[in-house]
Amino acid sequence: MNYQIKKSSELTDHETQHILSLWEVPEWSGMTPSDFRSFFKNSEFHFISGSEDEIPAIVRLNFDFFLEISGKQYSFAEAVGLVSAQKKRGYGSQLVQSFKENLIQRKIETIGFCFADLRPFYQQCNIEILENKAKAILENSENRWISSEDDDILIFNGSGETRELLRQLNPEKNAYLITKNNTMNYKNPDEHGYYGEFGGAFIPEMLYPNVEELQKNYLKIIESEEFQDEYQDLLKNYVGRATPLYFAKNLSRKYNTQIYLKREDLNHTGAHKINNALGQVLLAKRLGKTRIIAETGAGQHGVATATACALLGLECIVYMGEIDIQRQAPNVARMKMLGAEVIPATSGSKTLKDAVNEALRDWINNPVTTHYVIGSVVGPHPFPDLVARFQSIISKEIREQLKEKIGRENPDYVIACVGGGSNAAGTFYHFVEEKEVKIIAAEAGGLGIDSGKSAATTFLGTLGVLHGSKSLVMQTEDGQVIEPHSISAGLDYPGIGPFHAHLFKEKRAEFFSINDEEALQSAFELTKLEGIIPALESSHALAVLDKKKFREEDIVVICLSGRGDKDMETYLREIRS
Ligand SMILES: Cc1ncc(COP(=O)(O)O)c(C=O)c1O
Repeated sequence: MNYQIKKSSELTDHETQHILSLWEVPEWSGMTPSDFRSFFKNSEFHFISGSEDEIPAIVRLNFDFFLEISGKQYSFAEAVGLVSAQKKRGYGSQLVQSFKENLIQRKIETIGFCFADLRPFYQQCNIEILENKAKAILENSENRWISSEDDDILIFNGSGETRELLRQLNPEKNAYLITKNNTMNYKNPDEHGYYGEFGGAFIPEMLYPNVEELQKNYLKIIESEEFQDEYQDLLKNYVGRATPLYFAKNLSRKYNTQIYLKREDLNHTGAHKINNALGQVLLAKRLGKTRIIAETGAGQHGVATATACALLGLECIVYMGEIDIQRQAPNVARMKMLGAEVIPATSGSKTLKDAVNEALRDWINNPVTTHYVIGSVVGPHPFPDLVARFQSIISKEIREQLKEKIGRENPDYVIACVGGGSNAAGTFYHFVEEKEVKIIAAEAGGLGIDSGKSAATTFLGTLGVLHGSKSLVMQTEDGQVIEPHSISAGLDYPGIGPFHAHLFKEKRAEFFSINDEEALQSAFELTKLEGIIPALESSHALAVLDKKKFREEDIVVICLSGRGDKDMETYLREIRS
């Protein structure tokens, strides 16, 4: 007998049907495998598998709820749907043991609920039972709070504090069980695309049909087996994933800590941008689009999109600020060779924000044939979520690679630079709910926060709407966007994705502002110590090493979002001066 853990997306069709038959829940009996995967998208399935595909025992680990007690929210996982197919064979208790060990090892605080007649079973499994405490848990049913039908609370894994908190529940002190379906988590903004107060879709009426078409279809398409087969195959064989997680020995020695670099610079086309561009162009094809538009700052997203279009046979138009066309000339040449038309954006600061404006204008004028491949976790819903999902491969791989290298999935720190925030969203994605992982974001401070020439949005921004979503925006008191400045074209943006605005507001991530000069010095340092020339954007993340003291034993993962070829002119100018 084998103990296995699978996410819903990893279950075979046969397994989903088998689980439904074990559960015998009448409302779920007609569920198709794809409905099953989407309905339980935030669950893990722990089971024992036997020969011939049988599943003698199963339990679901549900991450979709929290408890509100005295106005405070407490997050737990819930063990639910434990079924043993053959009674009295011991498979149920065998599963509970493995399950409990796994929860302890992964530090997942987990509770469950049961009727009084199951007490002997859980006692035998050594699960702590808080008798009759489930009655103090109120659930929402048709807009009324009613007492749970269960009798007891089970503690599969919980700290002393958690136990005490739950022990104190009584008819006067209730806990409210709130399912997260209508509230957000970072992997699922709410149905309108909000991360707390940030996000949404603020668009001109002319864009409604395009954006609505995307909202309705994106999850259905990108979660389908057929899409994933093609996408994953291309990531592996065309992009060259998985990218290495490289232990940077010399850098680690210098900073007296354990530094790993996630080598997105080794992707085909030289940055993380291809993960998203390829995914979105595949999606556009399935939506029947024939023409692709994109904006680009550093040119990496433009090159990635032009590459995906060349591969998949779609017309490609890239908008790029006039200043960026000058400072990222090698990438302009690449886009042209790949067959894309590069159109200069000549308004405003002639950089990334202005390129996004031009692309949105184009989309309004060409709603039927065209898909807009946004290059970061910005724009109207569903773009921030769509792009974050495509980039989430970065943290998925980090977890797997750390597990292999050091025996645990969670590092102590993850660090990434933030322009709009796509490489950062990808690097943080599978760690945001892992409390012990500290998250650090590096923004472009330009010539300094107070210099009037900066792009450090969380330090300088206020709540506003930019490019279709509500987030932090650098703006004057009357809402005029302030022109940003950064030495790196990819971070030269006066906004930040709603995902990151929420991380900032909730203090889940620590934000550093890195000046142009500091980023340049970090680029030279990495080159000298490790023989890797990083992109200027990624150098902002590296510069955090000079700003924060890490402990010798800390595992610090830095996303090296791209390579420095495109920035050679800037680096050479610095060497000459
Ligand atoms: C190498 C590299 N890193 C980072 C960025 C910043 O974008 P994002 O914040 O979406 O990752 C860019 C943007 O062009 C880039 O080229």
